[in-house]
Amino acid sequence: MKKITVAIDGYSSSGKSTMARELAKRVGYVYVDSGAMYRAVTLYALEHGMIQDGKIDVAKLVSSLGDIRIKFAPAGADGRQHTLLNGRDVEKEIRDMAVSSMVSPIAEIGEVREHLVKLQQDMGKGKGIVMDGRDIGSTVFPDAEMKVFVEASPEERARRRQLEMKGNGEDVSYEDILANIRERDHIDTTRKISPLRRAADAHVLDNDRMSHEEQMDWLLNLFNVISHE
Ligand code: CDP
Repeated sequence: MKKITVAIDGYSSSGKSTMARELAKRVGYVYVDSGAMYRAVTLYALEHGMIQDGKIDVAKLVSSLGDIRIKFAPAGADGRQHTLLNGRDVEKEIRDMAVSSMVSPIAEIGEVREHLVKLQQDMGKGKGIVMDGRDIGSTVFPDAEMKVFVEASPEERARRRQLEMKGNGEDVSYEDILANIRERDHIDTTRKISPLRRAADAHVLDNDRMSHEEQMDWLLNLFNVISHE
């Protein structure tokens, strides 16, 4: 059984992070949530006054990229990895609406993408990694042996995101979440650099009507086939 690279891409709140994390755990691979890295940069920009009334000071952010250190702490009691921004655990803050509403414009900035893609490629050098995001199979690891593209309707994704946020004690209306999802879909699919697009060799998983177990069976089966090739 060879060590491979697994790239899981898809729309916002399609459940790709949950399945990527679980696949990594089941097969003993490292899991990297690339979206958390874009979110951490967004939080940094918000906290350092680089975003005023929705306007980003791109020059200031680009010149600060070297000061932004992003790491992942190993899974703790809750079974999840936590994102560390300059040593501080920001796992909860990066999921807030304030970050969600600015992350896609931040992720459109070419220098931000270049910086994070380089970090992501370094993390994957030794293979044995599952990374999820928008451009993993197309840009970060175009040679990944296993590529999955996850799809689900905006309404189903908004419903799932609202449940997740409720679990975190955040009460945001379904309409606001759906609007944010639609807006991010639009920005992510139409941006100039590395837009969200299915790689030609990606396997599509439409999980609108699939249970979690069905998705995991599908994913593990594909993983076993490819890693035995
Ligand atoms: O959690 P959710 O699926 O809503 O999104 P995420 O994976 O946390 O990513 C947040 C945002 O970061 C996305 O809407 C994209 O704008 C951006 N992103 C990206 O551009 N490229 C990636 N590889 C990952 C995320």
